[in-house]
Amino acid sequence: MSNPSQPDRILIFDTTLRDGEQSPGATLNVDEKLKIARQLARLGVDIIEAGFPFASPGDFTAVQQIAEQVGTPEGPTICGLARATRQDIEAAGRAIAPAANGRIHTFIATSDIHMQYKLRKNREAVLAITEEMVTYAKTFTDDVEFSPEDAGRSEPEFLYQVLTAAIAAGATTVNIPDTVGYLTPTEFGDLIRGISENVPNIDQAIISVHGHNDLGLAVANFLEAVKNGARQLECTINGIGERAGNAALEELVMALHVRRSFYNPFLGRPAESEAPLTNINTPEIYQTSRLVSTLTGMFVQPNKAIVGANAFAHESGIHQDGVLKNKLTYEIMDAESIGLNNNQIVLGKHSGRNAFRTRLKELGHELGDQELNRAFLRFKDLADKKKVVTDWDIVALVNDETQQAPEHYHLEHVQVSCGDHARPTATVTLRTPHGEELTDVAIGTGPVDAAFKAVHRVVSIPNELSEFSVQSVTAGIDAIGEVTVRVRHKDSVFSGHAANTDIVVASTQAYLKALNRLYDSIQGGKAIHPQNDDIAAAATARI
Ligand code: KIV
Ligand code: ZN
Repeated sequence: MSNPSQPDRILIFDTTLRDGEQSPGATLNVDEKLKIARQLARLGVDIIEAGFPFASPGDFTAVQQIAEQVGTPEGPTICGLARATRQDIEAAGRAIAPAANGRIHTFIATSDIHMQYKLRKNREAVLAITEEMVTYAKTFTDDVEFSPEDAGRSEPEFLYQVLTAAIAAGATTVNIPDTVGYLTPTEFGDLIRGISENVPNIDQAIISVHGHNDLGLAVANFLEAVKNGARQLECTINGIGERAGNAALEELVMALHVRRSFYNPFLGRPAESEAPLTNINTPEIYQTSRLVSTLTGMFVQPNKAIVGANAFAHESGIHQDGVLKNKLTYEIMDAESIGLNNNQIVLGKHSGRNAFRTRLKELGHELGDQELNRAFLRFKDLADKKKVVTDWDIVALVNDETQQAPEHYHLEHVQVSCGDHARPTATVTLRTPHGEELTDVAIGTGPVDAAFKAVHRVVSIPNELSEFSVQSVTAGIDAIGEVTVRVRHKDSVFSGHAANTDIVVASTQAYLKALNRLYDSIQGGKAIHPQNDDIAAAATARI
């Protein structure tokens, strides 16, 4: 079935806040999730999978608030994930209830290996649970999506049987996951064609696809699926997600946009049709990518398609010459089409608060008065240090300022001394959760190491530094540096991100943000993972 309201459009189901957030260290709090959800709505995604409500009270609240604030009648459908158990479905049903359009996405594994080792259930049991749980989900909403997890490695005849049962029980979307990223494009296309041809009631449901990028094939697999009847694509911003990530939204959307004359006929349109194939507002892509990268602390590699720093940079002389004569010699799409407007110089040190607020609004940031005041002070400070303040500087600064990381420990002061004949030494003053100001000093292999050691002496929660990266926002010696830090504690990873023209300050702030998240999780307990958790135990707890 195609999308009934727009039969020749492909639905974009964004799972950045669910599968994307399952990336190690990408954990987001409720305010950060809301911020991303609002931006996804501006981007024009059709469905936001806002989380897994049963995982923890925090996950439940995030889905509920997104449903309330972003799930307006004109806004996207808000979806909650649920394993095929009553308690999960009930939590998802309650969390999505405030949305004008809410969806429950329930799933159970159908491959022999998952059924035998993870579920410890036979085919009959899985079939019965599918029917029962889709029926139960329908008591909360008409819009029910069903996924046979690990469909890519499931026996096709059994898969057809499960899908037929799910649709008969009321599933309006059937999603086909390549959970382990194993299939090749031809195999994935054949799988979708097989489903279209062998599931007798498939005309009553939209075929969706979901896939991981373990072999780097997720986007190619989805495009092949579109050719064979898939009409909903489950993807994430910047391709973040479990292990090697999910199919990247920006790559899929721009492939369908730039090559629409190739894909149009598969949707029954004339090849030359200019009508868009998705509802995505492509000039919001870059801004969305930056926001997700900042809030999750997952950097975008420079050579990443569409949103990488080099994606539109023409370094080689030959290319520059060609591009100057005619852009089309080396460019297949305009930077403007994803919202990149060539690092325009917009504001300077004499710009006032109104100009700053207006520019921020144009860049998609609407700040409250307090946030605006803080961001404006930082902008003035930056404009004093840096001759040229670009849009990207402003976005980095505002994303940093409005990050809603918990602030149990606050950095009051950091000072370092270093040099080729000096022992790098840092003095750090922190305000603790109990309001005390504590100062400590440490020596390190360099100034950042010394600052981290001094912070660690005050915070003293055991952890291991697993990532430290610095990136400059723009070119030039006076550029803002963006730092991401990840720390590991037991089997969990926590990230922190900060931006400053002084990279020692940014590094110390980023490290402290990661430690604050770690501290927060120790206070709040651990969330359940929807796929790795013991589903057998959850299933037996069914009422
Ligand atoms: O990868 C997967 O199979 C999933 C399901 C929950 C759809 O994320
Ligand atoms: Zn997945």
